[in-house]
Amino acid sequence: MATSLPLKDAASQIEVIRGLIELRLSKIIPSKTTWPVRLHEAQRHALLSPGKRFRPLLCVFIAQGGGIQNGPDLDAAITTGCVAEMVHAASLILDDLPCMDDADLRRNQPTTHIAFDESTAILSATALLNRAFGALSRLDQVHADRRIEMIDLLSYAVGSKGLIAGQMADLANTDKGTTVAEIERLNTLKTGALFDFSVDAAAILSGMHASQRAALKDFSYNLGLAFQLLDDVKDAVMNDAQAEKSVNRDIGKATILAVAGSAASRKKLNEYLSHANAALLRADLSNVDALTAILDHQFAFLRS
Ligand code: IPE
Ligand code: IPE
Ligand code: MG
Ligand code: MG
Ligand code: MG
Repeated sequence: MATSLPLKDAASQIEVIRGLIELRLSKIIPSKTTWPVRLHEAQRHALLSPGKRFRPLLCVFIAQGGGIQNGPDLDAAITTGCVAEMVHAASLILDDLPCMDDADLRRNQPTTHIAFDESTAILSATALLNRAFGALSRLDQVHADRRIEMIDLLSYAVGSKGLIAGQMADLANTDKGTTVAEIERLNTLKTGALFDFSVDAAAILSGMHASQRAALKDFSYNLGLAFQLLDDVKDAVMNDAQAEKSVNRDIGKATILAVAGSAASRKKLNEYLSHANAALLRADLSNVDALTAILDHQFAFLRS
């Protein structure tokens, strides 16, 4: 059934969309009674645990800002955002494994390899990634050319020149002589690539012109850098209960925080955010209020 939304203020619009995202996520992968039950329970554990849903919210609101209307086009944007969330969940399952960050807690719940086991976790991540591409390919309401463009974008974003490259570099990144520019490159791949997908796919869905897409590329680039740097700051200053995940997992890594220090990191973070906000304004979307509210909520820590 096509999605239809009443007009509301930014905060209630965000809650309505968040609810639709949760509903779609719960339907986009097989039920927990589907064989092999343990595999589907594990996927649902990873995907449906209470994340912020930042990437799907970004995707849906950018698409709306680009002019998509309620109905089948909104449905497509919600599914596309959920695809980004599936890839994100897969990346977190893998990132938490003992051979990577060795984390026990994620979204206030045991990580997937702790709640299940390592083999099930690896297979669940692989299945989520696999299904993500299938879900995009089945967006029948989207012209085939646009679907192919999005599938290609996702393959690049998550692939060995994107997120996987960034994760590979991150795991080896213990040299304190690493420059801030090198770490920015790593963060752009590890975290920014999926932001680029979430934003550019929304631009494709809403048929934005090249100059809007270029402005949004600048937006997602700076947003990705700000997001990862904030995460690194929180990893250093919060405890597990505050972060709702295992922290101090990146001790010994050459993060921007580790090589440049706390004051310089805060300055950089504010610079990234002001570049992101300026780029967002250049993109000339119709719903900057809602997008600004999403960003304000995400970066509220900076005002604390
Ligand atoms: C955590 O992402 C991993 C990073 C890229 C820093 P989020 O902070 O979006 O985590 P969830 O989805 O809300 O759990
Ligand atoms: C992970 O970065 C980003 C991914 C691509 C998985 P982190 O290792 O800092 O993420 P958290 O802190 O575990 O969420
Ligand atoms: Mg990591
Ligand atoms: Mg980690
Ligand atoms: Mg982290």
